[in-house]
Amino acid sequence: MLKNKARIAVLVSGGGTNLQAILDAEKSGIIHSGEVVLVISNNKDAYALTRAANAGIQGLYISKKELKSQAAFEAAVINALEEYRIDLIVLAGFMSILSEQFTSRYPKRIINIHPALIPSFCGKGYYGLKVHEAALEKGVKITGATVHFVNEIPDGGEIIAQKAVQVEDGDTPETLQRRVMEQAEWVILPASVEKICVALCSGES
Ligand code: GRF
Repeated sequence: MLKNKARIAVLVSGGGTNLQAILDAEKSGIIHSGEVVLVISNNKDAYALTRAANAGIQGLYISKKELKSQAAFEAAVINALEEYRIDLIVLAGFMSILSEQFTSRYPKRIINIHPALIPSFCGKGYYGLKVHEAALEKGVKITGATVHFVNEIPDGGEIIAQKAVQVEDGDTPETLQRRVMEQAEWVILPASVEKICVALCSGES
C-alpha cells in the first residue's frame, strides 16, 4: 500500500487520554505518516468522543447492548472501518475483547496499549486500575507500559514497544496509573503508531 498517509481508526471506551496523545502527536509532527480519521466507542458517554469532536474527527458510538451480540457489534465496527478505508486500528483504553474472527481479519493491523510491562499483569481481567492494583500488591519497583499487536489472546500479540516507570513509595493505584500514562503510555503509543504507519505506507507490512 504505497500512499502518503495511513488512515487510522482509534477504538475507545473512556477518557481518551491516549487518543489525545495521538492527536497531539499528529499536531506536533511526531506522527506524520498517518492520520486519525475515525474514533469508535462502545460507550456513548466516553469523553474520548468529545475529544474526537473537538478535533473535528468523525466519532461513532456503536452499542453492543443494542446490537444484542458480539458478532453484530463486530460486524458494525468492520462496516465502519471499511467505509473509512482504515489501514491501522488502535485500541486506546478500549474495554471490549475482540474475537479471533475480528482480529484475524486484520493481521498486524491492530495495536493496543497495555498499562504494564507484558508479560506482567496482563491477560484476562487485567485492565485499567486493576493492573496497577496488582503491581502494588506484588510490590514491584518498576512497572510501565507496552504497545503490542492484537491477536485472539488478550494482551498476547507481538510486543512493539515498552517503557519502564518507577513505582514510588506511597503510590496508590491512581497515582501510579497517572505516572504510567504520562511517562510511558502517552510516549510509546504515538511513537509506535508512527513506526507502523511508516511500514504500512512503504508497503512493508
Ligand atoms: C489507561 O490506563 C490505558 O492504559 C488503558 O485504559 C486506560 C484509560 O485510557 N488501556 P484512556 O485515558 O481512555 O486512553
